[in-house]
Amino acid sequence: MGSGVVGFNIIPRNAIFADTNPHLINFYNAIASGKINGIKVRNFLEQHGEILSKRGQDYYYEVRERFNRTHEPLDFLFLNRCCFNGTIRFNRKGDFNVPFGHKPQRFSKAYITKIVNQVDYVYVMSRHSNWSFICQDFSETLKEISEKDFVYCDPPYVGKHVDYFDSWDEENERHLFEILSHSPCKFILSTWHSNQYKKNTFLETLWSEFHVLTKEHFYHVGAKEENRKPMLEALAMNFTPQRLYQEPIERAEQLLLLEKLAEHQRSNSLVS
Ligand SMILES: C[S@@+](CC[C@H](N)C(=O)[O-])C[C@H]1O[C@@H](n2cnc3c(N)ncnc32)[C@H](O)[C@@H]1O
Repeated sequence: MGSGVVGFNIIPRNAIFADTNPHLINFYNAIASGKINGIKVRNFLEQHGEILSKRGQDYYYEVRERFNRTHEPLDFLFLNRCCFNGTIRFNRKGDFNVPFGHKPQRFSKAYITKIVNQVDYVYVMSRHSNWSFICQDFSETLKEISEKDFVYCDPPYVGKHVDYFDSWDEENERHLFEILSHSPCKFILSTWHSNQYKKNTFLETLWSEFHVLTKEHFYHVGAKEENRKPMLEALAMNFTPQRLYQEPIERAEQLLLLEKLAEHQRSNSLVS
């Protein structure tokens, strides 16, 4: 699932959004079940945004400590929207540990409205579609696929992740390859192709039999300057796309809620 941006833009009638991060899945389940909604999000962000504007980082760290005890989805949203670069990262104890983003006035009326609209959108879409949000390993999720399905996978980059819920090694990559290469349905795997220093050798070995499309992307997330650099991204798939289609960029941005998840997980550059 990650940020869910692919599913939220494609809007499939039936979908399983699966991820091993329980906080992410709890958050979307809370929206889908109506436990949190646009009104509650607005009230919460207005109230806590005002305290943040007065107390600054002390309050951010208070909410972070509370979230690590209670795991409340509204705290998760609040933290994600005012932490450093909007990233999501958990330490080895499973605690959210991203530092403050140093913008105490973060929760302006316009910004809160944007978030509320995104929450309402996910709620409406999940009500009108048959969507489930499930916390489980990809190997479990992919056990259920049949030839009628379509699978989109965006695993973390190999060897770059030490996050509690999000580490990915060569064994994971090989396991995913074993499952996808025998997939009865179409799949797309999102991965990286190369940057100025390295290339993803798995594209030449494991994934070489598949069709690969590339696109350059510039990563702005990174504590160190050298981590802010262009990257050639890749999509590997077991079919040849009929036509290449222009991305609806504005819409894709609009439908991102926990938007910097992917970028952080690829940059892995923050200091604990
Ligand atoms: C690069 S992010 C996904 C990016 C996503 N496409 C987006 O736009 O945000 C990778 C995701 O894989 C999840 N993940 C890591 N290991 C996993 C596993 N073994 N099974 C399922 N999900 C996993 C992480 O929690 C994370 O949300």
